[in-house]
Amino acid sequence: MTSSSSVIHHPACVLVTGGAGFIGSNFLLRMVRRYPNVQFVNLDKLTYAGNLMNLTAIEDAHNYQFVQGDVADAALVQELFATRGFTTVVHFAAESHVDRSILAPLAFVQTNTMGTVTLLEAARHAWADRDDDPARYRFFHVSTDEVFGSLGDDGFFSEETAYDPRSPYSASKAASDHFVRAYAHTYGLPVSISNCSNNYGPYQFPEKLIPLVIMNALHERPVPIYGKGDNIRDWLHVHDHCDAIDVILRRGTPGETYLVGGNNERSNLDLVTMLLDQVDEVLGRPAGTSQQLITFVKDRPGHDFRYAIDATHLRDALGWQPQYSPEDGLRATVNWYLDNQPWLDAVNDASYRAYYEQQYAAR
Ligand code: NAD
Ligand code: TYD
Repeated sequence: MTSSSSVIHHPACVLVTGGAGFIGSNFLLRMVRRYPNVQFVNLDKLTYAGNLMNLTAIEDAHNYQFVQGDVADAALVQELFATRGFTTVVHFAAESHVDRSILAPLAFVQTNTMGTVTLLEAARHAWADRDDDPARYRFFHVSTDEVFGSLGDDGFFSEETAYDPRSPYSASKAASDHFVRAYAHTYGLPVSISNCSNNYGPYQFPEKLIPLVIMNALHERPVPIYGKGDNIRDWLHVHDHCDAIDVILRRGTPGETYLVGGNNERSNLDLVTMLLDQVDEVLGRPAGTSQQLITFVKDRPGHDFRYAIDATHLRDALGWQPQYSPEDGLRATVNWYLDNQPWLDAVNDASYRAYYEQQYAAR
């Protein structure tokens, strides 16, 4: 397999999977405008988490096209590879919520594992001539730090950390990472993998902690904190994650893994407390009002205690660093959701409310 840091990949036609979701839509909004000479095809099934409203700013762009479909639909995926001439895949599509994976794991195996293998199969056949030019193609797999399991009070995940997934979500993502590496090793497929910490920013579905807190505070509903709120996550602004993917895609060494993190660890309780203060400030409520909404609920089964990333490799090899300070990024995010209440109202539909009820019934 080719492995040289001097191999620069120049995407010409990019298949973006899951581009109507949180990170995928932020990626497309940035890249379609940043690279007008590159074609982008967004393949998304439009599950509850996919929302074309996220993409209205680029829906008429000359270099963007949407295809509704399932990444695990082999016939569709093969046809797209045969007819579109993809040079590049950026694979975001996934079932992404740990709590849903605890309620119903099979959809996670189907999309995250089977879907990834379906894409890998299509890419290895379509790119059979890749030995002519090793830089011509790239399969970028977007993964998570959750594949590494849970840390105690000290230490960081790095590229050398052994896999130890502990939820159905992280197990299905770990399986997909293993398949991506197996295709690189066995078939010489030019791949990149990134494992990123928790993202935050615009267009995140409000089943995840940060938009959930903002939405519930806005409507003066209880803000659920699992257990004692002492679990720790590292938070990275989604724009910084998208820019890391862009850098790795173009200049990363084929076959390598890069860990992406925000150097921004917070306990859930600290984070929620800060967000609620910001909501009060923006809405002009007396300081401390929304803190009363905090409600401690039964813990998530198997709840990983701490995630933290050592992103030295990405910084030293490719010069990437987060551009958002944690304070500015979180404040901008609170403002975004409070300025975009129609978006929150639209995704907070009957099916979401049914899920939310089910989540509470499970606790
Ligand atoms: P998301 O749930 O917001 O979006 C997922 C998107 O994939 C949706 O648009 C959905 O419609 C689409 N999708 C789901 N199943 C599909 C299928 N079978 N075929 C085609 N499309 C399908 O997820 P996200 O938070 O944007 O995460 C994107 C990727 O980044 C995932 O692979 C996730 O594991 C990874 N990741 C997420 C985070 C995070 O904090 N959100 C952190 C690290 C890595
Ligand atoms: P989440 O946003 O679901 O991301 P992940 O589980 O992938 O890290 O949750 C972030 C943290 O917040 C996690 O420790 C679980 C916790 N949490 C709550 O305390 N309350 C909630 O309502 C949710 C959704 C999460």
